[in-house]
Amino acid sequence: MAKRILVAGSSNIDFLLTTPYIPAPGETMISSGKYAFTPGGKGANAAIAAKEMGAEVVFCSRVGDDAYGDRLVALFNERGIDTRYIKVDRIEQTGLAVVMLEKSGANRIIVYSGANSKISENDVEEAFSCYPDAILTQFEIKPDAVIAAAKTAAYEGIPLFVDAGPADASFPLERLEKVEIFSPNENETEILTGIRPNNLENCLRASIALCNRVDIKYVVLKLGERGCFVYDGKYCDLISPYDVNVVDTTAAGDVFTAALTAEYLRTGDILGSAKFANAAGALAVSKLGAVNSVPTLEEVKKLMNA
Ligand code: RIB
Repeated sequence: MAKRILVAGSSNIDFLLTTPYIPAPGETMISSGKYAFTPGGKGANAAIAAKEMGAEVVFCSRVGDDAYGDRLVALFNERGIDTRYIKVDRIEQTGLAVVMLEKSGANRIIVYSGANSKISENDVEEAFSCYPDAILTQFEIKPDAVIAAAKTAAYEGIPLFVDAGPADASFPLERLEKVEIFSPNENETEILTGIRPNNLENCLRASIALCNRVDIKYVVLKLGERGCFVYDGKYCDLISPYDVNVVDTTAAGDVFTAALTAEYLRTGDILGSAKFANAAGALAVSKLGAVNSVPTLEEVKKLMNA
């Protein structure tokens, strides 16, 4: 039977603009690139990715009472996600992310939180009535909501999976109590620990620093084209990446952590799940968009067997 994952996180409309380069202050640049308004948000990307990877997904989020909010909820329903715990906020607009995408596939993102900033401790606690097998959350909602998720998960004895994006050095990590898998990318690792995970020694130092602050079973550092680094409190492993053509890195980290969570819940094998997540993340960078870049389970399996 599929595991039920409660995803507590943000839903955004991404204003995606491709550009040859990012203009300097005071510069106006005419880009012949494309733009689109597409579904995104770290929570939404993770919810759709976990569902594609075979989990049952209940999504706790907030959208505005506007056309973007309607569009997002309709999409989640179409993709088979349980939307019972998505609230329509009557005051705040649906979250918006301005994603500037350079030719290299690298992006810069500015987020207007809108309705996501109203996801409350109560919203998250209420969503636990779906009897989840696990909870997956990110830092794109307010810290109190993340901490409520952690506290309720600990109280109910449900494993907590944390994607540390976007990281904030002032986030009270200690209050997360107990985390099954904690997964930051390179920048987030540096923000949270002050250590850039640019070589194996620093990956290990940063992972130990994280474990000194929170009770984490596995730290999984997302290292982009270097793959990922897994630390279990004693041993560590560097898992090789898959070689793909990089089109857009947006949401690759969200897809990675969701795939890692879904596969780990299914198998209990952390290294196998990290390999699986590397494949899912690699496929996500080979396509444009956030939700639109989430691969299917078949695509992930095919890449792993290739
Ligand atoms: O991680 C990618 C996501 O970050 C985008 O979809 C955007 O909405 C921002 O939240």
